[in-house]
Amino acid sequence: MTFIDLTNADASERQGAAQVLLEAFTALGNPTWTTSEAAEAEVTDCVRKERIARAVLSADGRVIAWGGLRSMYGNRTWELHPLVVSPDWQSTGVGSALLTDLEDAARAYDIAAIVLGSDDETRSTTLSTVDFGTTSPLDALSAIAQIPGRPIHPFRFYQRRGYQIVGIIPDASGPGRPDIWMWKKL
Ligand SMILES: CC(C)(COP(=O)(O)OP(=O)(O)OC[C@H]1O[C@@H](n2cnc3c(N)ncnc32)[C@H](O)[C@@H]1OP(=O)(O)O)[C@@H](O)C(=O)NCCC(=O)NCCS
Repeated sequence: MTFIDLTNADASERQGAAQVLLEAFTALGNPTWTTSEAAEAEVTDCVRKERIARAVLSADGRVIAWGGLRSMYGNRTWELHPLVVSPDWQSTGVGSALLTDLEDAARAYDIAAIVLGSDDETRSTTLSTVDFGTTSPLDALSAIAQIPGRPIHPFRFYQRRGYQIVGIIPDASGPGRPDIWMWKKL
């Protein structure tokens, strides 16, 4: 695996990153990026000079994963957005390695903590069944412990890598589609 700075990458590497975004989210049934144009616009936004964007290349030089960090609270707390691995490479350790690389890059900028929103667009967590009209978000948090086995939700991936749940946004993307906010001190 080779790690590169995506903010300095060439057009073909950026296009490769857009392709990874499109394929990974289409495979999930997640409607956030459904066209090449939308995915390319997202990459363009993430590789602005004031942001951190890192990518992983395969041995033949193709982008197989990438992730970005952007300021949320000055230079102290930055948001991870996005983190994505090509479907062909998922569950092979690439995402973990890239997350470590992004955290190292953040430390180099004296960033103290990372936050991320791990939304549930596909009703993969029991939070998607909670009626926030009658249940308080604090009470609903206990439901996160009972996530069904499939489809896999990334929140556990982050939890095993030191990120803690610090809140939820009920029905963030619509009824039954909450966002789960996670945080890690570097
Ligand atoms: C979630 C994701 C970044 C993990 O990267 P990865 O390279 O597949 O993961 P690794 O091989 O390093 O680690 C394996 C872990 O990822 C989990 N994982 C693998 N594929 C996954 C998927 N499609 N969705 C969620 N988690 C996944 C495995 O269950 C395993 O979890 P564990 O360590 O808790 O047992 C990657 O699967 C991905 O890009 N998924 C689609 C996009 C996405 O959901 N991004 C996160 C948005 S918040």
